[in-house]
Amino acid sequence: MGDGIRVAAPCKINLHLGVFDHRSDGYHPIESIFQMLDFGDVLWIDSLKKRSGIELHMGGAIHMDVSVPPEQNIVYKAVRLFQMEQGDENGYYIHLEKAIPLGAGLGGGSSDAAAVLIALNQISGRPFTNPELESLAACLGSDVPFFIRGGTAYVTGRGEEIETFSVPTPWAVLLVNPGFHSSTPEAFALLDRVRAEAMEPAKPLRGRDELLQMLNSHPGNWTFYNDFLELFLKRGTPEVQQTYRNVLLELKNFGADFINLSGSGSTCFGVFSDPERAKKALITLKSRWPFVKLSFPLARRADTVVE
Ligand code: C5P
Repeated sequence: MGDGIRVAAPCKINLHLGVFDHRSDGYHPIESIFQMLDFGDVLWIDSLKKRSGIELHMGGAIHMDVSVPPEQNIVYKAVRLFQMEQGDENGYYIHLEKAIPLGAGLGGGSSDAAAVLIALNQISGRPFTNPELESLAACLGSDVPFFIRGGTAYVTGRGEEIETFSVPTPWAVLLVNPGFHSSTPEAFALLDRVRAEAMEPAKPLRGRDELLQMLNSHPGNWTFYNDFLELFLKRGTPEVQQTYRNVLLELKNFGADFINLSGSGSTCFGVFSDPERAKKALITLKSRWPFVKLSFPLARRADTVVE
């Protein structure tokens, strides 16, 4: 031990999320604006030196299901993948301090996996370049490559085609999770079913230039949308429909300039150009919903590893 490092695993929101018809491999092409936030999980990673194996310890405010074998945890899978690709026989000790709610559309597991790849690469003397790490990340999940880059990005493909933008993000984000999980595969399957039944085609691509221009305008003018939010407001269970309506209305009433759902749910968010309003909203909404967090955009992934 001794060369251990601490690495942040920040969450993300999708400011915009368009979903297109599924490809022959079952994945859906997307068009999205991802924004990394300054709130997230933290991992401590250390080499076990002469010992092999993976020791995974969990802590933090969010409790993981202890009945799930550790081998199924994406953090564990990220270590195994790195070891295999690198021919690395070292064992690793990992402590994961979980703060990002699970099944919440905030990319918690994906960010943890990316953090592991970044940390192990650093511990091992950087055998992989960042583009190589992104390719490894894509083997772990569609959202994982974004977390190698971070910041603000235009994301297409199934999530692996990423163009980062250097744009001012002078706003606060209030995250509100209503306390239920949302399954990503189920959300994609429901979207397919509803579109097939209604013979409703996917909306056209908005295009990088239009989305970038909008991002540079005041959040009150944004017309970003999330196809999953429209889906759940129409075809979610009555409870889900009502909950999303209530949360979004409360965010709007508290002065959010823009409101949306992140990923395939279940976290809703408000973008506030005035952080003072966001702070006031935080105080009230905290007493009404199980998870409410005030956070700010992170412009880049760097600075998240501390030796
Ligand atoms: O890539 P990941 O393992 O995170 O995806 C989980 C599931 O979500 C996939 O098996 C697929 O059903 C769905 N998915 C999709 N299109 C994407 C991303 C995910 O259909 N772009």
